[in-house]
Amino acid sequence: MLYPAKEHVRQTGEKLVGLLPDVDRAKTQIVLLAGEVTPFRNDTDRELSFRQESNFYYLTGCNVPGSYLLAIYQVGTSFEKSPLVKLFIPKAELADIMWSIPPPSLDEASASHDVTNVYNVSTLVDQLTEALTAFPDAILHTFPTNSAVLPNFPAACASQILQAGRTLVDAHLLPAVHLARLIKDDFEIDLIRKANQISSRAHETVMRVLGKAVKGSITSPGPNANRPLLPGEWLIEQEAEAEAIFVASCRREGSIHQAYLPIVAGAQRASTLHYCCNDREFAWGPVKPTDHKNHDHFPQTGDKEFVPQVLLIDAGCEWSCYASDITRTMPVGNGGKFSPEARDIYNLVLDMQKAAMEITKPGVHWDTVHYTCHKVLVQGFQRLGIFKTPDSPSSGSWNSEESILASGDSAAFFPHGLGHSLGMDVHDVPSASKPTVNPTISETEKVGNPSYYTYLRLRLPLQKGMVVTIEPGCYFSPHLLAAIRDSKHINHDVLKRYESVGGVRIEDVVLITEDGFENLTTVRSETEWIEGVCAGDL
Ligand code: GLY
Ligand code: MN
Ligand code: MN
Repeated sequence: MLYPAKEHVRQTGEKLVGLLPDVDRAKTQIVLLAGEVTPFRNDTDRELSFRQESNFYYLTGCNVPGSYLLAIYQVGTSFEKSPLVKLFIPKAELADIMWSIPPPSLDEASASHDVTNVYNVSTLVDQLTEALTAFPDAILHTFPTNSAVLPNFPAACASQILQAGRTLVDAHLLPAVHLARLIKDDFEIDLIRKANQISSRAHETVMRVLGKAVKGSITSPGPNANRPLLPGEWLIEQEAEAEAIFVASCRREGSIHQAYLPIVAGAQRASTLHYCCNDREFAWGPVKPTDHKNHDHFPQTGDKEFVPQVLLIDAGCEWSCYASDITRTMPVGNGGKFSPEARDIYNLVLDMQKAAMEITKPGVHWDTVHYTCHKVLVQGFQRLGIFKTPDSPSSGSWNSEESILASGDSAAFFPHGLGHSLGMDVHDVPSASKPTVNPTISETEKVGNPSYYTYLRLRLPLQKGMVVTIEPGCYFSPHLLAAIRDSKHINHDVLKRYESVGGVRIEDVVLITEDGFENLTTVRSETEWIEGVCAGDL
């Protein structure tokens, strides 16, 4: 089955017309877009890996660098049900064939794309002129020139438009494509499912390698073997090794790109939400709480042990331009078991995720789901003694659950949003996810402190067909804790005991269904299972 590009153009046309002033809705809508071109690195004469711009792919299903789209949609005409979709691809040049893989022929591209017709790019200007002449009242849409999604038309195209006395309207098309992309169709869901399955196996692979090492069943050829280590002989003793195994696992299953650069953070580095270095060794022996300078190489020997610590891996691959986004937090050291404090925090984050999942279904506002997680965090912290509890459970007390929620103190521990839309991009369709006017949730619902919503990337009621992440976390970041060091709600001695945990995040990707959700992430996250695998017992 072909990628349903024509249907995506139709849905985009429908959304586009909905965004236009009444007087323009019946007019012909022409869409002119440029796809991504092959990137090169300076002075290497070698292509960087090509990834089509997401919106262009959504409307064309085309992965050929240097392509263009010309589409026509009009309400009340045959183009309303079946828009005209013309795809323009570059012609194969001898030099391209010699150095690289050429673009497909027109016949090959026609057979593999769900579009009306495929042409060579050289005909684009003529066909644009033809469309402008045939539809003198048409509105010509493209993406904003000041956005990251840059139109990159041949100069002749621009002068043709100028000569015809027409303008390119850039205000509506991108929001329209984002609105269409917010709800996923079955074809897209299958691609997201596949990306999640591959990434789930990669997460489990890392855990199983950790578990094998705990059991001492990874054997090394020894320093005198005079050969490099084979993959089955790799230990994971530093973040880079965990990253390498994750990426290798995805790559060997055919995934070309990671959906974002993996976040692989050991110990306290897990408190940096988008940690990007992935270059530290795990902590051996006594370690200072903020030790980021553990550069020495430590051979694995019997007389050295890892300090009990967490390893947070937030990583997901892409499959045919569709993303996954999964976080698992696992124990390192301590025989593959969490320290008591890390287990407390892990269980609490799992409780937050369970509470979120219990209410995840169409119609529920995402603000509510996010706020529920803050409530569970506050209750959990009161149970652990990090937040104080009232002597008598009278609501209104200065340290009641409600007062703590109103203070916003829990934002220092759970500073990010519960989740976001996911699709072709990891933080998918931002303009459709976080409208400037938030569709309000009921006035009577408590929503806690406004600081909870600063980084919430989805501010909508859930709808069937949305794909979102559910990713609660709990972190002990020195920078964020600075703001609550004087908080009267906190028992600072108890907090100190938990700070070395660093951070825990658990992130799954779910599809919103008719009456609930389907979890597309298949790697498990129960505490016993994670510990069992990381200890080499399962
Ligand atoms: N991987 C980035 C995020 O979870 O949002
Ligand atoms: Mn995410
Ligand atoms: Mn993530």
